[in-house]
Amino acid sequence: MEDYEKLGAFYLGKVYDMKAQKTKDELFLYDSKDLTTHAVCVGMTGSGKTGLCIGLIEEAAIDGVPAILIDPKGDLGNLLLTFPNLQGSDFQPWINQDEARNKNLSPEAFAEKQASLWAKGLGDWGQDGQRIQRLKDSAEMLVYTPGSNAGISVSILNSFAAPGKEILEDSDLLRERISTTVSSLLGLVGIDADPIQSKEHIFLSTILDTAWQKGQNLDLAILIQQVQNPPIKKVGVLDIESFYPSKERFELVMALNNLLASPGFNAWLEGIPLDIGQILYTPAGKPRIAIFSIAHLSDPERMFFVSLLMNQVLGWMRTQSGTNSLRAIVYMDEIFGYLPPTGNPPSKTPMLTLLKQARAFGIGMVFATQNPVDLDYKALSNMGTWFIGRLQTERDKARLLDGLESAAGGGFNRKEIEKIISDLDSRVFLVNNTHEDAPELFNTRWVLSYLRGPLTRDQIKTLMEPIKDGQPVASITGPSTVSASGAKSSSQPPALPPGLKQFYVPTRGSAPAGNKLFYQPTILGAAKVHFSNTKAKVDTSQNLVYMTPVTDNAIPVVWENAEVLDVPATDLEKSPSSNSQFSILPSAANQSKNYSDWEKDFSSWIYGSQRLDLLQSPSLKATSNPSEDERDFRIRLQQIAREQRDEVIEKLRTKYTSKLATLQERRRKAEQTVEKQAEQAKKAKVDTALSVGATLLGAFTGRKVLSQSNISKAKSAMRGFSKSADEGQDVKRAMETVEAIDKQIADLNAQFEEDTAELESKIDPLTEDLETLSIKPNKTDIQVQLTTLAWVPYWKDDQGGLTPAW
Ligand SMILES: Nc1ncnc2c1ncn2[C@@H]1O[C@H](COP(=O)(O)OP(=O)(O)OP(=O)(O)O)[C@@H](O)[C@H]1O
Ligand SMILES: [Mg+2]
Repeated sequence: MEDYEKLGAFYLGKVYDMKAQKTKDELFLYDSKDLTTHAVCVGMTGSGKTGLCIGLIEEAAIDGVPAILIDPKGDLGNLLLTFPNLQGSDFQPWINQDEARNKNLSPEAFAEKQASLWAKGLGDWGQDGQRIQRLKDSAEMLVYTPGSNAGISVSILNSFAAPGKEILEDSDLLRERISTTVSSLLGLVGIDADPIQSKEHIFLSTILDTAWQKGQNLDLAILIQQVQNPPIKKVGVLDIESFYPSKERFELVMALNNLLASPGFNAWLEGIPLDIGQILYTPAGKPRIAIFSIAHLSDPERMFFVSLLMNQVLGWMRTQSGTNSLRAIVYMDEIFGYLPPTGNPPSKTPMLTLLKQARAFGIGMVFATQNPVDLDYKALSNMGTWFIGRLQTERDKARLLDGLESAAGGGFNRKEIEKIISDLDSRVFLVNNTHEDAPELFNTRWVLSYLRGPLTRDQIKTLMEPIKDGQPVASITGPSTVSASGAKSSSQPPALPPGLKQFYVPTRGSAPAGNKLFYQPTILGAAKVHFSNTKAKVDTSQNLVYMTPVTDNAIPVVWENAEVLDVPATDLEKSPSSNSQFSILPSAANQSKNYSDWEKDFSSWIYGSQRLDLLQSPSLKATSNPSEDERDFRIRLQQIAREQRDEVIEKLRTKYTSKLATLQERRRKAEQTVEKQAEQAKKAKVDTALSVGATLLGAFTGRKVLSQSNISKAKSAMRGFSKSADEGQDVKRAMETVEAIDKQIADLNAQFEEDTAELESKIDPLTEDLETLSIKPNKTDIQVQLTTLAWVPYWKDDQGGLTPAW
C-alpha cells in the first residue's frame, strides 16, 4: 500500500468507475484543508453516510485534529471500539447478540467471524491493526451524555452565566445567544415561543440581557426569582405589570420551577462544564474526539442541548486566532429537524452563523442527513463539499440537483448526474468539492472502528467507567480558611498622618452565615514591568500587584514574603465595606518616610525576582505568549505544524500538477503518432492507450497519471511488438518517444516520493522537549506605580477563623 499517511490528506476511499461498476486502485484523498468550507453528506438509509463520516473522523484524529460529534442515533460511540489485535475476544463484548442468535452461532464464534471480517475488510483497503493502534494513540475518544451519567455527564449550569467579552461586545452575537438560550429553555418547558411575538420570550430575553450586560451570572433558580420579582420596571415603553401581569408570570414561574424540581433534572447540573477549549484537548494538550450522545433525550431536551453546544462552540471560536488550516471538526449525524428550510428552531441560528463564519477559524462543520429537503437552502449553498450517496425519491434528487446546479454554474450535466445518483451502490458516493475541477465517484474505505450499531446506555457506561474516574468535574472550590492572628481590632480604620493614604481591596461574594468582615493591613506594591527579547520577538509589559504583611518586627516589611494580589491596582477602593472591623495598625505603617524605603526595596526585589519564563519549540521556532500555559502552547504548536505542512503541500501541488499535466499531454500526442504510423505501416492497431493507473502522485494532484506497473506493462508490450517481424522504423521511433515520456513520468513519481518523505514531521509538538526562555527585566524597565497601605478583607467566624473575602 502506498504511503497516504503523510500527505495532510484524508484517506476516504478509492475512486469508483461507474461504467465498469468497479472500485479502482486509485486512492481517493481529500485535503483536510477543504473541510474548512464544511461538508454535507446525504443518502438514503444504509447508503453508508455514517460509515463515511466515521472514516473522516478517524482520519482527522490520526492527523491530530480534534472533533465534537453530536450523536442522535448512538452510532458514533463505535469510534471507541478499536481493537488493534483484531481478535475475536476483543470484539465479543460488543457484538450484536441477536444477530449471532439469528445466524445460529455462539457468541464466541460470531465474534471470531466479526474479527476476521474486520481484518479482511481493512486488509482490502491497505490497512491493518497497526493503523488502528495509530488511531488510538492519536486522540482520546470520550462519550459525553448530557442529562445522564452513563457517560461523562455535562453541567449546563454555566449556560445562563454571562458570556465572555467576545460575545458581549458583539451585539449581533449577543442577541443571538440570548434568543437561542431563551427559545431552548422555553422549549424545555413545552412553550413553543416566537421570539418577536411571545411575551415569555421577550420578557426572559430582557432579564438575561439586563443581567449579562452587568456581567451578572444567572442560574435557573435565580431566573425563576427574577421572573417573579423582575429587576426591571419596563419592557419597551410599557411597565411590567401591563406588559406581563404577575398573575400570568406566575404560570411561567410554575413551569420553570417544575423543570427545576423534576427528578431527572439534577443530572443536568453535575459534570463537566461545557467549555469547548477544555473539551477539545486533554489537560496535556492531546486532541480529543468528544462524542455527545443524545439518543436518550426527549426532543425538546435534544434541541436545548444542541443549541447550547452550538452557542458554546461559537463563543469559543471567537477566542481563536484565524487560520487557513483545519483546527477542529463539528459533526452532527442526522441533522434532521435542527437546520430545517422552514421554521426557526433555536439550533438554526447558531448553526447558520457557524457555517458563515467558522471557515476563518479553521472549524469544519459536517452534517449528515437522509433527505436533502430537510436542510435549509442557505446552509446547503454554504457547503464546500457534498458527499452524495444513493438517493431515491424524486423530491430529494431534484433538491440536490438544484443545489449542485447553482453551485457548479455552467457545464453541469444534470441528466447524467441524476442517473448516477439513482444508481449508486451502498458506500459509493459522488463528491462535489468546490476546490476540485469536477465531481468524482468513490467507494468509502473500510473503517478502523468496529461498527456494531447503536450503543446502549449500559454499553456506554461500560466503555466510559474506566476513563471517567480521571475526569475533572465542575466543583466550586473556595479559598481555604486561615486562623486568626488573635490581633486586637477596632471598628474604624486608623487616622493616618497627612500625605499617607490607605486603600481597601474590594470584597467579593456575600458573608457566610454568622461571619463578619475583618480587615488586615498590608503594604501593597504595584509595578509595571517591561520584558523584551528581540531575538524571540518578545515585547510585553506586565502589571504586577503584590502585597506583604506589615508588622511590628525589627524589619516590618519583607518583600520576599509577598504574595500576588489578583486585583488590578485601579480597582482598589477608597473606603471600606460597612460594618467591618480592623486589625490594629503596626506603628511602622504610620510613618511616611518608611514608605519611600519600602518602595526602593520593592523595586529591587522586583528586579531580582521577576522573570518572564516563556517556552520555546526548537523544531517549529516558536515561542509561547506570556499569557499562554504549556497546554495551550502545545495546542497552538500542533496548529502551526499543520499550517506549515499545508503550505508545503500547496507548493508541492503547484510544482507537480503542471509538470504531470504537460507530460500526460505529450504522452497522449505521442500515442496518437504511434497509432498513425502503425496504420501507415499497415500494422494491427497498437493499443498504447493505457488504463488510468494509481499512483500516489495521481491521487495527490487529482489528475490521472500512469502507474508504475502500467508503465512497465506498456514497455514490455511494446518490446514484444518491436520484436515482431517487419519492423517499421517510424513506428519504432514513435514508440521510443512514448517510452521516453514514460521514463520522465516515472522519474517525476520518484522525485515526488522523495519530496513527500520529508513531509513526515519527525517531531511531534505534543511531546517535543520544550526549552525555557527566561527573560529578565532591565532596571529601567521597572516602573513602580504605587507603594501604599492597603487593607485586605477576610470573613471572620465566631471562632476567629479567617477566610479570604476578595
Ligand atoms: N466504511 C465502512 N466500513 C465498513 N462497513 C461499513 C462502512 N460503511 C457502512 N458500512 C456497513 O453498512 C451499514 C450501513 O451503513 P451506515 O450506517 O453508514 O448507513 P447510513 O447511510 O448512515 O444509514 P442511516 O441513514 O440509516 O443511518 C453499516 O452498519 C455497516 O455495517
Ligand atoms: Mg447513519
